[in-house]
Amino acid sequence: DKITLSVIKADVGSISGHYMPHPDQLAAATKVLSEAKQKGLLIDFYVTHVGDDIQLIMTHTKGPDHPDIHGLAWDAFQAATKVAKELKLYAAGQDLLSDAFSGNVRGLGPGVAELEMEERKAEPVITFHADKTEPGAFNLPMYRIFADPFNTAGLVIDPRMHAGFVFEVFDVYEGKSVLLKTPEESYDLLALIGTPGRYIVRRVYRKEDNLLAAVVSVERLNLVAGQYVGKDDPVAIVRAQSGLPAVGEILEAFAFPHLVAGWMRGSHHGPLVPVSMRYARVTRFDGPPRVLALGWNISKGRLIGPADLFDDVAFDETRRLALQIAEYMRRHGPFMPHRLGPEEMEYTTLPEVLERLKNRFVKTEEVKVVKRHSEMLSGEHD
Ligand code: F6R
Ligand code: MG
Ligand code: MG
Repeated sequence: DKITLSVIKADVGSISGHYMPHPDQLAAATKVLSEAKQKGLLIDFYVTHVGDDIQLIMTHTKGPDHPDIHGLAWDAFQAATKVAKELKLYAAGQDLLSDAFSGNVRGLGPGVAELEMEERKAEPVITFHADKTEPGAFNLPMYRIFADPFNTAGLVIDPRMHAGFVFEVFDVYEGKSVLLKTPEESYDLLALIGTPGRYIVRRVYRKEDNLLAAVVSVERLNLVAGQYVGKDDPVAIVRAQSGLPAVGEILEAFAFPHLVAGWMRGSHHGPLVPVSMRYARVTRFDGPPRVLALGWNISKGRLIGPADLFDDVAFDETRRLALQIAEYMRRHGPFMPHRLGPEEMEYTTLPEVLERLKNRFVKTEEVKVVKRHSEMLSGEHD
């Protein structure tokens, strides 16, 4: 039987602002999933969090987008929301944008990455969980993992990877995807995914046999709710080894703390910091954005792990650099490019400010030196 690994996440409330979920919320979600495991709906599961997002990592044989699995995730988030409300946690239930579940959490609010696989003799998989950023934050590392030989030695020296990979890129505004082959279409690919707020690497296939190697969640809460209600903190699944990038090649792509959109009020650029489970919470300026990497082996659907892959001195220099970048970016205060451009901000007072100042904008030639300052201030120039 084919096994499906489903990673579904949502922010349904947090202790102390957006710091992290309360342990009782995780316990409530765990209870719902363990009942489903007893009933045989799930083979296995693991519940954790990064920042304020609860992460449900589940295995089953139902395939992607199955209403029973999505309904289960919905119930788990509802249970965690109930706790959040009782404890008066912050932003209780914020990602559950609809009160009625209609068979599929896609488009409702929670983020989803699902990968159906024929289990290999050994099946090493990494799940990535990020907070205070958007799905496009994975564009740069996905490119480096599957298309950059300076990151992934196997692209050059492993015969099974030498033909390259195919990227599915999703345009979040048009709701359409395009398939691009690497290495031959690398420049086209980069032309798109260099705009990570719009073009998102959604899936990656091995060219030789179309094996699905990686999946990224592409939900955009802003478009879902019809208004910008939050950066959709993303998740990703990447399969490793034996003709795919090695675990170490996959992690290597996160050794450079690139700038991503998100952070405070979903409206700032900051470095993506690789963290261990211990530091999977947010503090400074509600961040900085961070990513957790959990290593698994899947055995007949059982989840063996997790290995807390960024919990190592090998990433200390990345973190040190990231924190320097965080400091540097913060000193820009309300200025771009720390603050996002007007079309990308989650919160904005710009329309209000412009409306209020409307009558005070004058053509340059009308601003005579003799014009009295008080007239300009009061908007009485005509
Ligand atoms: C970012 C995030 C936080 C909040 C911020 C303000 O994704 O969730 O940075 O935007 O704490 O929250 P409110 O407006 O609810 O006080
Ligand atoms: Mg949040
Ligand atoms: Mg979050």
